[in-house]
Amino acid sequence: MKTYNELPADAGSDIIGQVTAQLNRLQKRLADVKHTVAIMSGKGGVGKSAITANLAAALALEGCAVGVVDADINGPSIAKMMGVRNAALHYSPAGVTPIVNALGIKVISMDLLLAEDEAPVLWNAHTQKDAFTWRATMEVGALREFIGDTEWGALDYLLLDLPPGTDKLPNVVELLPNLGGVLVVTIPSEVSQFIVKKSLAMAQHILNVPIIGVIENMAFHICQHCGEKEPLFSTDEPLWEETLGSIPFDAKLAYCSDKGMPYVREYPDTPASLALTAVAGKIQHFFKET
Ligand SMILES: Nc1ncnc2c1ncn2[C@@H]1O[C@H](COP(=O)(O)OP(=O)(O)O)[C@@H](O)[C@H]1O
Ligand SMILES: [Mg+2]
Repeated sequence: MKTYNELPADAGSDIIGQVTAQLNRLQKRLADVKHTVAIMSGKGGVGKSAITANLAAALALEGCAVGVVDADINGPSIAKMMGVRNAALHYSPAGVTPIVNALGIKVISMDLLLAEDEAPVLWNAHTQKDAFTWRATMEVGALREFIGDTEWGALDYLLLDLPPGTDKLPNVVELLPNLGGVLVVTIPSEVSQFIVKKSLAMAQHILNVPIIGVIENMAFHICQHCGEKEPLFSTDEPLWEETLGSIPFDAKLAYCSDKGMPYVREYPDTPASLALTAVAGKIQHFFKET
């Protein structure tokens, strides 16, 4: 089996170290990163990656130096959404240089390590010819390498798009004891909110991580013909008392995500873009206060 360090011919062999050494390196790598922000949700498909990509874009458009880690190793989508799916990573003994997208955002994703669009990410896939295999069987190991072997340089914000599941945050906190804050994404369905409330409780009470806030995605749809708001999910139950923002469904956002275009720059005046930009402003405000 190979690690991504070993993928390009002969480079990078001396960056493979022991876990402790890697953790130390991780701290050093992040020395010039001002704020790390984890984006999580209990559920998949609620728009976490699309929101991460657009918050990164909104922060970059405001002049911040931004990096994004696609920590969803089994369903990587950040590279595609941020328009760098076809870029190749550069390796040197000093580490991996992240891809820089059109807005100057530094991106690292498992996607950038997969040769074929169709290649699945499989753990322990000894026999599958086209599958990318990883030496670690644990996501956390891969994530540690992802963050620890990347030359991030100076950043205002490093956003981590976490995989779905409430169990991921403890791993991240273990790797990043100075995690600046957590953004929680939900959609207004009871099922999603139920799970998200569990994630929030764990983050707040067990891990003691600062919560920046909840983002309600696909909150409603605005009719193109009459301009009226149409709810997309059942909203009988009261939603969150306070959210950082409610992002409406907009087919143009889905289109831009598929095409790797920054929606907030392409369509800056739509209700969804305005809501996303406002959330980016609240994130900056949060860190000014803390
Ligand atoms: N507000 C929105 N309006 C339209 N499409 C959206 C919106 N939020 C997310 N999407 C789309 O929904 C799909 C799932 O979103 P994604 O970000 O991949 O979810 P997750 O990362 O939580 O699994 C993607 O195709 C994405 O472009
Ligand atoms: Mg995702």
